[in-house]
Amino acid sequence: MKLNDKVAFVTGAGQGMGQAIVRRFVAEGARVVAVDLNREALAESLADLGEKVLALACNVADSASVADAMGQVEARFGGLDIVVNNAGVGALDSFLDTPDESWARVINVNLGGTFLCAREGARLMVKGKRQGTIINLSSTAALTGEGPSHYCASKAAVMGLTRAIARELAPSGIRVNTLVPGPTNTPMMAGIPDEHMLALLKNVPLGRMCETDEIARVAVFLASEDASFMTGQNIAVNGGMAFI
Ligand SMILES: NC(=O)c1ccc[n+]([C@@H]2O[C@H](COP(=O)([O-])OP(=O)(O)OC[C@H]3O[C@@H](n4cnc5c(N)ncnc54)[C@H](OP(=O)(O)O)[C@@H]3O)[C@@H](O)[C@H]2O)c1
Repeated sequence: MKLNDKVAFVTGAGQGMGQAIVRRFVAEGARVVAVDLNREALAESLADLGEKVLALACNVADSASVADAMGQVEARFGGLDIVVNNAGVGALDSFLDTPDESWARVINVNLGGTFLCAREGARLMVKGKRQGTIINLSSTAALTGEGPSHYCASKAAVMGLTRAIARELAPSGIRVNTLVPGPTNTPMMAGIPDEHMLALLKNVPLGRMCETDEIARVAVFLASEDASFMTGQNIAVNGGMAFI
């Protein structure tokens, strides 16, 4: 078991990659605080994992909500070892027609939420003198530009954020890396029009979409001692679609 007795905080855990990451982490011995916007749906989707998972409502874009969730982590587990900033949103706006509200929502959730959970999680790690690790989800769209402008901008910014905080947190023994998926079979992709999807997949040398467990297995690696000398890195899981 690679994550025995570690305490992990996983955002956007009710479906897609987040749920797959929670399941892999539990299988590797971790206790997981799973957070999402809708607590009932989240708790139901992870009910079979029993007491290994604590399901909490948390809006990662809201500073007070994140602070409250981290307070519950400290009260229940006494500290934190792993944060996975997975919660994210997309939107199908073309650049010229992007409403201000849509720009703000995508940036606030994808970048702002990553910042808030990384900061609050790192504060807990430093306070507890734990040599923790943070994994931030970006996207291959940030490298290729094949996606809406706000989404690509937010995911590119996550890479910069990761590198900066990796340097700052290294003296505390905290590692921070970016996991960069390609097109992956999740509810987020369900809304993408078929012709756009086919065009995207033509650019994937391995010729298919990624499955969520293929992301979760890399998240386990990054969170574990196997990645003990890795920090500030972009780790692409994209079937060869783009190189970092
Ligand atoms: N799927 C892909 O092809 C792909 C490729 C590259 C990168 N990614 C990135 O990988 C991550 C996971 O993607 P996914 O496809 O698994 O997404 P998904 O299926 O849409 O799941 C994302 C989860 O995050 C939750 N969420 C949204 N806003 C939130 C907020 N403010 N606070 C807390 N939770 C929130 C969603 O809740 P609701 O459903 O209630 O909104 C949902 O449960 C995202 O960061 C995404 O951008 C995805």
